[in-house]
Amino acid sequence: MSDKFFVDNVLSGRVAFVTGGGTGITGGVAGALAESGAAVALVSRKLEHLEPAAEAIRARGGEAMAVAADVRNIEEVEKAIAATTERFGKIDLVVNGAAGNFLCPAEELSSNGFGTVVDIDLKGTFNVCRAAFNELKRNRGQILNISATLHYVGTPLQLHVSAAKAGVDALTRHLAVEWGRYGIRVNAIAPGPIEDTEGMSRLVPLEVKEKLRRNIPLGRFGRIKDIEQAAIFLCSDAASFINGAILVVDGGQWLSSGRMLGG
Ligand code: HXC
Repeated sequence: MSDKFFVDNVLSGRVAFVTGGGTGITGGVAGALAESGAAVALVSRKLEHLEPAAEAIRARGGEAMAVAADVRNIEEVEKAIAATTERFGKIDLVVNGAAGNFLCPAEELSSNGFGTVVDIDLKGTFNVCRAAFNELKRNRGQILNISATLHYVGTPLQLHVSAAKAGVDALTRHLAVEWGRYGIRVNAIAPGPIEDTEGMSRLVPLEVKEKLRRNIPLGRFGRIKDIEQAAIFLCSDAASFINGAILVVDGGQWLSSGRMLGG
């Protein structure tokens, strides 16, 4: 949450349910939604991550609550949805940002390791969309999924995440078609390498980082703010005819990933 780029209160009166909402990219998105006028429920497994984020939003004059739920567990998700509607009266915006990730070669990846990431990223996204459906239908709401570009090419050590995010893209397009009739818009953002995240510092080794940066046509890594701006746009009425889109926000990185370095 930082410099404002959008009309004040562009999301005023909206209620957002944001998973993974305490930290990283979705932490930023949650803060930006609040700064744009939405009341925000921050949802993840760990309340200790969520409470400070919710408090930071409130300290800036926004409305926020923290709700603990594991997106893999449909009963916990349903309870979190109920707690949010009880507190804020409705839900008309869902952001699916909860994600698991670690680096692992495919030949060493266990079935449970693969399944754990698919369960968090893909099944978790389904669970939240499914549990929020009645609210979204009632309010002609929207879903914004946080995807990735890893699966557009073959990304070593990321088979599990790529498979999960490919599923998130499929889910985005299918729900856009099935739920468009209810006025529900379903879109995704596919971030490229975002510099100021825990994922980037933990998952991308230093020696790879500079090569990666040099291959980004815009010559820099993304920042959380870049994703925040895309998210506010897609959630606002400025995007009212955008449905089923997967907006790549990566400075052109994946398109140039086969390019000779320095070219
Ligand atoms: C191999 C691993 C592993 C590792 C876990 N597993 N970490 N396998 N290498 N480093 C395996 C375990 O061995 C186990 O399988 C299975 O995964 C489940 O592990 P648990 O620890 O029991 O599960 P859980 O506590 O539920 O969570 C595991 C986790 C989580 C999903 C890995 O700790 C996690 O992801 N934390 C990081 C969250 C995060 O950073 N999110 C942001 C993602 S950024 P076995 O077979 O042993 O039982 C992002 C952007 C993508 O997604 C782009 C990046 C460039």
